[in-house]
Amino acid sequence: MRAIEITEPGGPEVLKWHEVPEPSVGPGDVLIDVTASAVNRADVLQRQGFYDPPPGTSPYPGLEVSGVVAQVGASVEQFKPGDEVCALLAGGGYAERVAVPWQQVMPVPERVSPREAAGLPEVACTVWSNVFMIGRLRKGETLLVHGGASGIGTFAIQLAKALGARVVTTVGSAEKAERVRALGADEVINYREDDFSERVRADVILDIMGGRYLAGNIRALNTGGRLVIIGLQGGRKAEIDLGAMLSKRVAVHATTLRARPVDDKGVIVRSVVDNVWPLVAAGAVRPVVHAEVPMADAAEAHRMLDSGEHVGKILLVR
Ligand SMILES: NC(=O)c1ccc[n+]([C@@H]2O[C@H](COP(=O)([O-])OP(=O)(O)OC[C@H]3O[C@@H](n4cnc5c(N)ncnc54)[C@H](OP(=O)(O)O)[C@@H]3O)[C@@H](O)[C@H]2O)c1
Repeated sequence: MRAIEITEPGGPEVLKWHEVPEPSVGPGDVLIDVTASAVNRADVLQRQGFYDPPPGTSPYPGLEVSGVVAQVGASVEQFKPGDEVCALLAGGGYAERVAVPWQQVMPVPERVSPREAAGLPEVACTVWSNVFMIGRLRKGETLLVHGGASGIGTFAIQLAKALGARVVTTVGSAEKAERVRALGADEVINYREDDFSERVRADVILDIMGGRYLAGNIRALNTGGRLVIIGLQGGRKAEIDLGAMLSKRVAVHATTLRARPVDDKGVIVRSVVDNVWPLVAAGAVRPVVHAEVPMADAAEAHRMLDSGEHVGKILLVR
């Protein structure tokens, strides 16, 4: 089969569409004939040599795919050849075929095309597990989503609105502000012009900036608030004022999905299928696709992500 190899750490040009060995299918695995994959910020870090895949997983980039089941391992009863599926991966999605533990495989939700489904697993699992399972966002509460125009942000805004929360979000331009308002955001803050921590009080914050926003995020939390950090775009270190935390009884979480054990991912995936897929099937939450790029041209898709002009997901199609 062919897959995108990272020939050496570097810019988009190091991504090459090469002939590689077929993946081996373990007893608990599902082999997927890939229809599409999608680009995530983590793939850029992997390309640059800053984010190695977890031990024992595929060396090729790609944290999600959609496709058709080609084969199942001896102990898999949940899926069969011919099923249309999408899957959360630890890697290996930029390829013609990928083998994945059955626990990480999901049906394609109704109303979503087989291609669009490639852009759902990573955002749905990340947003559901962090904002709802860990952050316990409830109806009537306020969610602050940093980077509302990102793949993660566009999904978080829609899901939180669909479940009855008020949503405030940050973006870097007037054009992106328009786009996230159209997705349902109640209040939009341009982070280049305003300090969000002066403008918003939130019960849950989904943060992608890490160190640079830590103090502001704690300031912006309501009493009993929950900050969930999933990205470190603003650095991994910062000083924390514990006094500000204890007087408001706030919690700070920091998590990553990719490194979690398969069974943990399975719990999240099943919870997404039960709680999020019905909202997608009802049209309350839609995939936001910025562009479709041929998979062999993954370098072009990475250039697009690097430029920062996208809103939502960039798909890699076969
Ligand atoms: N921990 C996990 O399990 C997990 C899983 C998935 C994703 N993530 C993280 O989630 C983040 C989004 O991922 P993605 O793939 O959706 O990336 P993406 O589409 O490339 O989005 C990056 C976003 O960062 C925003 N941004 C940059 N500087 C900012 C600032 N100072 N304040 C607020 N926002 C700022 C950009 O906003 P503008 O374009 O408006 O400037 C853009 O929307 C990444 O940091 C990624 O690593 C973590």
